[in-house]
Amino acid sequence: MSLKISVIGLGYLGATHAVVMAQLGHEVIGVEPNVERLDSLRAGKLPFYEPGLQESLTDAVASGRLRFTDRHNEISAAADLHFICVGTPQLTGSQAADTRHLYSAISDLATVIQDGAVVAGKSTVPVGTAADLRAELLNKSGKKVELVWNPEFLREGHALQDSLTPDRIVVGISPETKDLGPEMVLRAAYSAQIAAQIPFLVTDLATSELVKVAANAFLATKISFINAVAEMAELTGADAGQLAEAIGFDERIGSKFLRNGIGFGGGCLPKDIHAFEAKASEIGAKGIASLLQAVDSINLERRARVIDLAKLALGELTGKRIVVLGAAFKAETDDIRESPALEVALALKSAGATVLVHDPMALDAVRLKHPGLETKDDLLEALAGAELAILATEWSLYRNLDPVAASSVVAVKNLIDGRNYLDAEKWQSAGWSVFGLGRGA
Ligand code: UDX
Repeated sequence: MSLKISVIGLGYLGATHAVVMAQLGHEVIGVEPNVERLDSLRAGKLPFYEPGLQESLTDAVASGRLRFTDRHNEISAAADLHFICVGTPQLTGSQAADTRHLYSAISDLATVIQDGAVVAGKSTVPVGTAADLRAELLNKSGKKVELVWNPEFLREGHALQDSLTPDRIVVGISPETKDLGPEMVLRAAYSAQIAAQIPFLVTDLATSELVKVAANAFLATKISFINAVAEMAELTGADAGQLAEAIGFDERIGSKFLRNGIGFGGGCLPKDIHAFEAKASEIGAKGIASLLQAVDSINLERRARVIDLAKLALGELTGKRIVVLGAAFKAETDDIRESPALEVALALKSAGATVLVHDPMALDAVRLKHPGLETKDDLLEALAGAELAILATEWSLYRNLDPVAASSVVAVKNLIDGRNYLDAEKWQSAGWSVFGLGRGA
C-alpha cells in the first residue's frame, strides 16, 4: 500500500529516509528549512557524499514521487505519516542533547496536521522525550493524531543498504494509544521490509528510545574495550589486531567493531554516548553513567597516544612536516564531525608541527571548518617533503598506495598507522619505520 509521507529534516538521516521511502513506492515530500540544503536537493543534487544515494535521489525525483519544500503548510494535504528526522546535537557547554529542533518541528506540525495522521520520530533522543513530544502534539493540535517512535540505525557510508534492509525495525507506541491504527500505518510504510522477513518490533516509547542509545553505547563500548586492550598490548609487546581476530571467532563476542585504532568519532556515537551519560546521571543510573565515562575517556586517550608516537618518531614536533592521511571520521563519507583524524591533525598543529591534511572526499568540509589547516588534493603532493605520515582514516586509496612511490617523495620514511589498516611488512620492506597502535612500539 502506497502512503503519503512527509519527512521533516533532511540531513543524512532524513534525506536518505525520504529517498528510500519514495524508492519503496510512497509519495514523499521532504521539508528542510536550510536554504542551501533545500536548493541543492531541489536541483536534484545530494548535499553530502553517500555511496549510491545520488543515483537513487535522481531516480526518485524522476519518478515524481519525491519533492522538497521549506513550508510546513505544504505537507498538510492528507499526509498519512510524518517522519521527524531533525538533528539532536550536543548542547554547547553540556553533555546533554539539544532537543529544541524536535519541539519546534512538533509545534509547526501541530498547526497543519490532519485528523488520523501519525507522526513517527526518528531522531535519537534522551529517554522520556517521545512521551513529552506526544503530549505537546496532542495538546497543541487538538486533533485525533498519534506520535510513535521509530529509531533509525543507519550507518553513514552504508545508508542505502541499511535503510532498505535494516537488521530490525523498532516502533515505540504509547500505552495510551488504544487502537492498532498507528502500528498499521508504520507496517504499511515498511511493508517491503516486513515482506522480506526483517524483524518488526513493537515496544513502548521509552524502550524504543533506549534501544537506539543502548545500541550506539554498546558499539562504542566494544571499540573502547579493544582500544583499552590495545594499550595493554602496547605495554607487553602483544598484537591487538591478532588478539581481536582470535577473540572474534567466538560467536558470543563477534569480530565486528573490534578494530583498534584512534577511536570512534562522527555525528552520532560521541554525542549519543554523552547524552546517554547525561540522562543516566540525571536520573541516578550510576552504572551506565560511569561505564560510558570510561568509554569516552579511553576513546580520547587513543588520540593522545598518536601524538606520543609522533614524538617517539620525530623527537621535538616544532617545525616538523607531518601529513595526516584522512580527515573524514571514517571511510566512505565526507563527514568530519568529531573526526579523530582531524583532532589528531589539530593537536599536532597546536604542538608546533607543520601539518598537511589529505582526504579523497572531505577536504571541502575541512577548508570550510578549519581554514587554518593546510590541505592538498593530490596524495603524492601531500606526502612531498613529509617527515612523518599518519594514516588516520581507512580509505582504500591509502592501502593501494605503493610504499616505494611514497618513499620517493617524502623527506623521512616514518609512518604511524592509526587504524591498523596498512600492510606493515610491505611498508617496512620499503624501508619505512612503522609505528602502530595496539602493538609494542
Ligand atoms: C553509528 C552506528 O553504527 C549507527 O547504527 C547509528 O545509526 C549512527 O551511529 P556511524 O556514525 O555512521 O554509525 O559510524 P560507525 O560505522 O558506527 O563508526 C563509528 C566510528 O567508530 C568511526 O569513527 C569508525 O572509524 C569507528 N570504528 C568502528 C572503530 O574505531 N573501530 C571499529 O571496529 C568500528
